[in-house]
Amino acid sequence: MRVLSLACLLIALCGIHAAVSRSDKRRNDKPIIGILAQELKYPKPKRNSYIAASYVKTLEAAGARVVPVMINRPEEEYHQLFHSINGILFPGGAANLLTSGYAKAAHIFYKLALKANCQGDYFPIWGTCLGFEQLLVITSGEKLLCRTNTRGVSLPLEFTQDFPPDMMTALATENITVNFHKWSISMENFTKNEKLRNFYKVLSTNTDGNIEFISTMEAYHFPVYGTQWHPEKNAFEWSRTYYPHTPSAIKTTFYMTDFFVNEAKKNFHSFANEEDAMKHLIYNHKPVFSAAFGSSFQQMYYFE
Ligand SMILES: *[C@@H]1O[C@H](CO)[C@@H](O)[C@H](O)[C@H]1NC(C)=O
Ligand SMILES: *[C@@H]1O[C@H](CO)[C@@H](O)[C@H](O)[C@H]1NC(C)=O
Repeated sequence: MRVLSLACLLIALCGIHAAVSRSDKRRNDKPIIGILAQELKYPKPKRNSYIAASYVKTLEAAGARVVPVMINRPEEEYHQLFHSINGILFPGGAANLLTSGYAKAAHIFYKLALKANCQGDYFPIWGTCLGFEQLLVITSGEKLLCRTNTRGVSLPLEFTQDFPPDMMTALATENITVNFHKWSISMENFTKNEKLRNFYKVLSTNTDGNIEFISTMEAYHFPVYGTQWHPEKNAFEWSRTYYPHTPSAIKTTFYMTDFFVNEAKKNFHSFANEEDAMKHLIYNHKPVFSAAFGSSFQQMYYFE
């Protein structure tokens, strides 16, 4: 609840500051972006959490370096990390949206990001699939999701706002956005909820045949973005037949990530020095070829 009232207050009071920071012309060409880890459904010794490598690869392909953000760490550690990285991505997966270490860490970064943005410190957040749902739960303070029949289908987006024209045609006419979720925010519940309606602009919707749900959104006054679909899968995941790899599908992966990495370039947080950054970077971990063991992810990073 505290977070919510804070968010509302910030929107009311700080719109002007956020606008000022957006006109800042400096650019950080060495962005380091955090990717939030999450609980494994079946943890093993030394394997308590994971990040799917496709998220790391997309960000790297668009010119960023990646730091894994571990779950269940002290809040103080997250504060320090927040001031060292230039943006954060909440990836897809299956963690609990209220009680998991993923949810708790996401909450802390969201709160810090809103406060920072209000003070002119531009800090972008991207949520994909579970991360998108997590953003909705944090912003509204409740779980307004409903079940949809959307596990394993690629859809064309139905736009409500402008995307760049070249991408828009492909995204609107070809089946290139991978949906792999059983929960969605319906247009109905979104529109009924004042907190969500006032915070996010709906950029695209989709339907499972029965329920119209939101597939792409961005916050009005903050650099907070979410897709219910998976931009990273098109270029980097191969283990399901419905993952599209057409030229426009691959461009979509790149377009979305290029956008987010450029958002991160507007942030000037940094580690104490290059050595400190090196201690945190994802290169300290080795991905495992998880598709060989039946995973829907080609490669995964496991953490203790
Ligand atoms: C709206 O949200 C409630 C949870 O608060 C959920 O039970 C219901 O199924 C949702 N309805 C639609 C149409 O999304
Ligand atoms: C393509 O999208 C349509 C909706 O426009 C959907 O009904 C269909 O199942 C999708 N096809 C594939 C192969 O995912």
